[in-house]
Amino acid sequence: MNVQTAYTSWSATYDSDRNLTRDLDQEVTRQTFANLRFESILEIGCGTGKNTALYRQIAQRVLALDFSEAMIARAKEKVQAGNVTFAVADITKLWPCRDRSADLVACDLVLEHIEHLDPIFAQAFGCLIPGGRFFVCELHPFKQYQGKKAKFQRAEQAIEVPAFVHHVSDFVHAAETNQMALKRLREWWHVEDRNALPRLVSFLFEKPI
Ligand SMILES: C[S@@+](CC[C@H](N)C(=O)[O-])C[C@H]1O[C@@H](n2cnc3c(N)ncnc32)[C@H](O)[C@@H]1O
Repeated sequence: MNVQTAYTSWSATYDSDRNLTRDLDQEVTRQTFANLRFESILEIGCGTGKNTALYRQIAQRVLALDFSEAMIARAKEKVQAGNVTFAVADITKLWPCRDRSADLVACDLVLEHIEHLDPIFAQAFGCLIPGGRFFVCELHPFKQYQGKKAKFQRAEQAIEVPAFVHHVSDFVHAAETNQMALKRLREWWHVEDRNALPRLVSFLFEKPI
């Protein structure tokens, strides 16, 4: 099953399934942005709008992209706000975003499904204003080394969504190649992860002024 088909299927239960990674990511996003404010956020891979609901509270405008119409349909049901625009778009293609139009590009739990990071960082750089930030929160590569991937249950079958391993250095290198500076790197554990490897890694990159 390809990524798009998988998320079309998963959309029905993505919000209600037990999923510690999804829950931790929401908490990380809250903690990271609770006291910050933005003019314009571009969210790539918004899914069912779990974080769009937060981003819309801290920004004047949010453009939220996803290539799964079914995931976006769920997001539209949940997040009905005048300052949010949802659009169906494949982020491996050209983004429907003007150059220098966002002060934050946000990406939660998406890049494991994207083989090549470099074009993503290049487009994030283009969409950001000088001084704008690119936030990335992903399944920690330590987990990926253990074979963990996004997965869900359908009938009796566990369906794994196709994923690519990205090392921490791959993110840092993609940022360097695209002239973005790493401002912060953090590792995150869910409360149920005690004594386990970190579940998530987050990066805050900045486009130079
Ligand atoms: C694990 S979900 C995360 C959704 C949301 N960001 C969250 O944190 O709950 C991954 C999302 O990435 C989207 N996605 C994966 N590859 C994509 C691509 N090439 N273009 C746009 N969206 C993509 C999927 O459709 C799915 O909604």
